[in-house]
Amino acid sequence: MEQSLYLAPFEHENDLAQELTFKNLPIIEQQGRLFLVQGSRRDIVWAQVSFYNIQKLSITSINDGAKQLKNLGRNWALYSVTQHRRAELIQEALPHYPTKPIAFLAPRPEKPMGGWTLWDNDTILASSDTSSLYPLGEMTFIEDQVNPPSRAYLKLWEFFTCHSPRLPRADEHLLDMGACPGGWTWVLQSFGGPVTAVDKAPLEERIAKLPRVTVRKESAFGIDPKDLPKVDWFFSDIICYPARLLELVKRHEAQGVKNFVCTLKFQAETDHATTEQFVRELGGKVIHQHHNKHEVTWFRIEE
Ligand SMILES: C[S@@+](CC[C@H](N)C(=O)[O-])C[C@H]1O[C@@H](n2cnc3c(N)ncnc32)[C@H](O)[C@@H]1O
Repeated sequence: MEQSLYLAPFEHENDLAQELTFKNLPIIEQQGRLFLVQGSRRDIVWAQVSFYNIQKLSITSINDGAKQLKNLGRNWALYSVTQHRRAELIQEALPHYPTKPIAFLAPRPEKPMGGWTLWDNDTILASSDTSSLYPLGEMTFIEDQVNPPSRAYLKLWEFFTCHSPRLPRADEHLLDMGACPGGWTWVLQSFGGPVTAVDKAPLEERIAKLPRVTVRKESAFGIDPKDLPKVDWFFSDIICYPARLLELVKRHEAQGVKNFVCTLKFQAETDHATTEQFVRELGGKVIHQHHNKHEVTWFRIEE
């Protein structure tokens, strides 16, 4: 039967293990942040990368390992769990791949990046069918150290660079809920259309004064969607319980909003049930982006 490997984000092994249990996927073995699981392709939120269609390669030497991987594909990123030196020597015999920070909206690689691990001295687990275009699902940006007022903008940069099927157009109205100090508003304003930024706390003044930005200093939950001009994209980075956010999203959806990008933030425990409820009731997809912390991103975009 087919097996898959899932790599937990740093310090989120528990979240991944809980999600696998929640989804009734039996864990065969865990090594480091890697979980070997019985079953085929599934969308796993708390995997920074998923390796599908795992190939199990028995190897006799470092050269043999590198040769077998090269026969399977070109680009391979290693996640090492054991026999680290041996694994590194195999990786060194493989073609190098770019690891430099990328620019916002840099063109996406055409094919997913392969991933492999040395599971024991003589066994490689490899997949050229992974969930990420970037090595092990990790990517960093050439950051803007000057303009954004917080590092939250990196979540939206990642979303639009790596995941969104399209960008907002200049004729679309963007609603930014939980906008203070203004990192998301700063990104959204760059698409050329009107942005309404909502927060109980004030936005940084220079962001609030940007052209096309309207600030509403009030609770996102107190706004009646009917009182807003037609909204095309709903964004939320509000700190609140995911269940509360779900109700808010539904109210705006009922008013005709088509596109959503929302951060679901968790307190002590990760709320896997409400995370699943978003997709079950509203469609779309939930991912844990490289720039997400103890939170995930739910999105639904009409193409
Ligand atoms: C993580 S911060 C948002 C960061 C922002 N996206 C950025 O890029 O700068 C979360 C925000 O949610 C806001 N917030 C919490 N409860 C809110 C509510 N009921 N209505 C609106 N904003 C709320 C907080 O004031 C806080 O500014």
